[in-house]
Amino acid sequence: MDRLLLIDDETDLHYSFQRLFASDDLEIATATSGEEGLRLLKRFKPDLVLLDIRLGGMNGLEVLRRIRMTDARLPVILMTAYGGTQTAIEAMKLGAYDYLLKPFDVPQLREVVARALRASRAMRQRVAVEPEVDAEDVELGLVGRSQAMQSVFKLVGQVAVSDATVLITGESGTGKELVARAIYQHSLRANQPFMAINCAAIPENLLESELFGHEKGAFTGATAQRIGRFEQCHRGTIFLDEIGDMPLATQTKILRVLQSGTFQRVGGGETLQVDVRVLAATNQDLERAVAERRFREDLYYRLNVVRITLPPLRERPEDIPLLAGFFLRQQARDPRHGAKSLSAEALEALQQYAWPGNVRELENAIRHAVVMARGDTILPEDLPREVLKGGKTPGGRDEAAKAAPAAADTGAKPAVAEAEPGRPGVAKPDETVAELGQRLFAWARAHPDLPVLPAVERELVRQALLATRGNQVQAARLLGITRATLRKRIERFGLRSEIRFE
Ligand SMILES: Nc1ncnc2c1ncn2[C@@H]1O[C@H](COP(=O)(O)OP(=O)(O)OP(=O)(O)O)[C@@H](O)[C@H]1O
Ligand SMILES: [Mg+2]
Repeated sequence: MDRLLLIDDETDLHYSFQRLFASDDLEIATATSGEEGLRLLKRFKPDLVLLDIRLGGMNGLEVLRRIRMTDARLPVILMTAYGGTQTAIEAMKLGAYDYLLKPFDVPQLREVVARALRASRAMRQRVAVEPEVDAEDVELGLVGRSQAMQSVFKLVGQVAVSDATVLITGESGTGKELVARAIYQHSLRANQPFMAINCAAIPENLLESELFGHEKGAFTGATAQRIGRFEQCHRGTIFLDEIGDMPLATQTKILRVLQSGTFQRVGGGETLQVDVRVLAATNQDLERAVAERRFREDLYYRLNVVRITLPPLRERPEDIPLLAGFFLRQQARDPRHGAKSLSAEALEALQQYAWPGNVRELENAIRHAVVMARGDTILPEDLPREVLKGGKTPGGRDEAAKAAPAAADTGAKPAVAEAEPGRPGVAKPDETVAELGQRLFAWARAHPDLPVLPAVERELVRQALLATRGNQVQAARLLGITRATLRKRIERFGLRSEIRFE
């Protein structure tokens, strides 16, 4: 469970927070002064701090400064009733994660809290390189015995302690982000912040300002100065995810910051100097992007000095049993899930499949199977349908590989498969649902205290969002509900922190 520390002298706000986050998996501690907050820091060990700037006694900025000295990685969100003030800017320069204006816009508050908690987890969850697959305490690990993965691990170890820029490439779902986090955690900057920025998810015109900040009046809508991630992340590590999607103008600025550590805020004349290590990843073919002039050649060479290429899962089938075992063990920690082992046939099917969505798809397949399994052992029929299909048809691997882009897009297949026209018996969604119902009830009988319908609804909403990469308009259409209803479900089921929204 994540822990949030709220430091604010208004006790009313403490109650609103408790109420607001009551349904989330969040433990909240409150303090009415900076001094009390700092004391709680050691005892409560929060994952995130929300801090009011105006406090009686020690003021918010001083509290922030001390928090940063104790633990530079702990994200702190500043709160202020005075929008756009110099203090908020000052706070960002001191490395605050973000700031919020009072009174709160509740959806925005939840969004920022979820984002900060995600960032906090990315810094803290230990990514073990080559974990003992049986070890109970490993939350995240880079698993793999294949030659190719062994070379990856070696490289991670070699580059981690240097300050070199690293380019991580590989198909979707091969573990690029995990490798970036492993490098960070094994680096000399492990006690400093790590910030991941998904270049593809931020609109083109905002990315530059997100990274480098802007001056007031730099463009329409720039009503106040903004401190960018590079400035905030001084001495830390920035992970530029999906760098292949970065607009050319921003690439120019990145090149400069890599070469000289300097940049200017958008619309600003002052040259700023930072010490930030850059890790970058992409699933695009950057060589081709260079040839097509979508990616700057000089930046490509600058990034490509150290390159880690993650092999697709289909090229290292020997890792499949290991990974499957690892994910199964992770799932088994949830007491609601019974399945503990894989039958030989199920394992065989996993090894026959081409895994267009790579490790992420395998992870989702194991999750799916664990829910579907009726006993202790996962049988082939508990696996997602496409896995079985991919294994049984001769040449299944190739066919599945051809379908790669579509499947890789969604990562997971919905639990309720689409109707397959022309195949009697499963031609209508109703019948597929009926089939699924039987399985779910078998599961429910074994777990009488668990509400089936909300669980199914939650999973369907989640899958729709995964399948559309968080595009709410498309997800609502898939589900046949309005966007407003979808939004309510996202809140109710606390899905915001699980899905990356576009
Ligand atoms: N070698 C591995 N061992 C254990 N888990 C892994 C491994 N590789 C990937 N995973 C898991 O698979 C999932 C996908 O990994 P990750 O997000 O790092 O992929 P990615 O390459 O960044 O994908 P994308 O290009 O789609 O962003 C994550 O849940 C990650 O923990
Ligand atoms: Mg990624």
